[in-house]
Amino acid sequence: MNVAEMLKSLQDPMGVPFYPLVFQILLVLTFALHIIFVNFVIGGSFMTVYAYFRRGNNYRLLAKAFAKATTINLSLAIVLGVAPLLFVQVIYDPFWYTSNVLSASWMIGILFVLMAAFSFAYVFYLKVNKGKRHIAVWGILAFLLVMLAAVIMHAVSYQALQPEKWLQWYMNNNSTDLYGARLHAFQWPRFLHFIIASFALTGVFMMLYAWYFWKREDMDKTYLAWVGKAGAEMAVYFTVLQMAVGVWWLLSLPATFHFYTNYMFLTGVPFAIVLLLVLIKAQSDPRKYALPVAAIMMLTVLAMSSLREVLRMLYAGKYNYSVYSYKLNLSYGSTALFLVSFVMGIVIVGYMISVVFKMGRSSKPIDLSSLKLRSWSVYLMIAWILMMIGIGVAIAS
Ligand code: HEM
Repeated sequence: MNVAEMLKSLQDPMGVPFYPLVFQILLVLTFALHIIFVNFVIGGSFMTVYAYFRRGNNYRLLAKAFAKATTINLSLAIVLGVAPLLFVQVIYDPFWYTSNVLSASWMIGILFVLMAAFSFAYVFYLKVNKGKRHIAVWGILAFLLVMLAAVIMHAVSYQALQPEKWLQWYMNNNSTDLYGARLHAFQWPRFLHFIIASFALTGVFMMLYAWYFWKREDMDKTYLAWVGKAGAEMAVYFTVLQMAVGVWWLLSLPATFHFYTNYMFLTGVPFAIVLLLVLIKAQSDPRKYALPVAAIMMLTVLAMSSLREVLRMLYAGKYNYSVYSYKLNLSYGSTALFLVSFVMGIVIVGYMISVVFKMGRSSKPIDLSSLKLRSWSVYLMIAWILMMIGIGVAIAS
């Protein structure tokens, strides 16, 4: 059996329940959201420790702010990882599952790594006010464990792209590797492209922080102006470095892909150039440019996420694997249920975000009755619960 036949035989014989393109679009969208928060966690967990070791009131406040943000960003990165996980295993199941099994101990271990990372980040957040140097150890451990999670996720994603090597990895020294105790593949430019971006995105996070808290009467404006400026500088320097690493990654790709002439690549790159230009302009007034910069940054991450998917299609295409030729077993009911839940989720999460947004921007009690999504989210939640009970009763009877 050759590799192409092996991949075909590893596909789910039941087929996919809806058009693969829809899963692919959702995969790209949700991966972009996942990686944005992964970047905030990596950059934020580094910055909190860095600021903790520096002297002065501004750094003390920044260390506190990032200690808190890291616990929240880590939760969001983990939760937002579930969605691409669901989509990737629907359309790329032969690649994803095999790679997971080849490094099974690491993939199970990542759960403990993340639990420990979150606990350490939280302990650091609780103790950050004490100011004693040894407390930094909790923050350092949290950062190192988050980096370990990134190494595992990268290795597993990269192994998945090399099916021709799976057997050789499995047959380790003429004996079968039943423990999945090793990570088999690592590509520095690809890995660094995700890590360096963390510092560019965290710079933008700092610009947004300065913009967001500017309206609060109890916040020190000199401190906020300092954070905004430091963030804008960090964002611009690391965007340049990120572009250089991007070129390195591009040059390290198999020459047969001709990726530099790929139309998706040529469409994606201008986003990064516009981001850099706007960031240069933003140095004069980081707070004023915080929102446009954040919008362009999100579009750039989305473009890069799409490029990553195009690249995967090229790797899989070497073995005539295309998600578009996956056996179709249309299931309108489950797809409709998914879409209804998805839309409902957006409305409810939208309401929660607007509550948090309003509350965080004022030190005084605020009136939430004017929020538009309030009643909608309650009615939709009730309708959804009734619908789920109805479906359950219908299936059981
Ligand atoms: C803070 C912890 C995490 C970090 C730092 C992290 C980092 C990363 C990175 C760097 C990649 C891209 C790797 C590459 O393409 O080379 C990635 C991909 C991915 N991550 Fe995470 N991740 C974390 C947690 C999670 C969790 C908890 C889940 C699942 C619940 C998850 C799901 C995924 C999936 C499914 C992909 C690949 C999607 C695809 O192949 O398109 N991640 N992650």
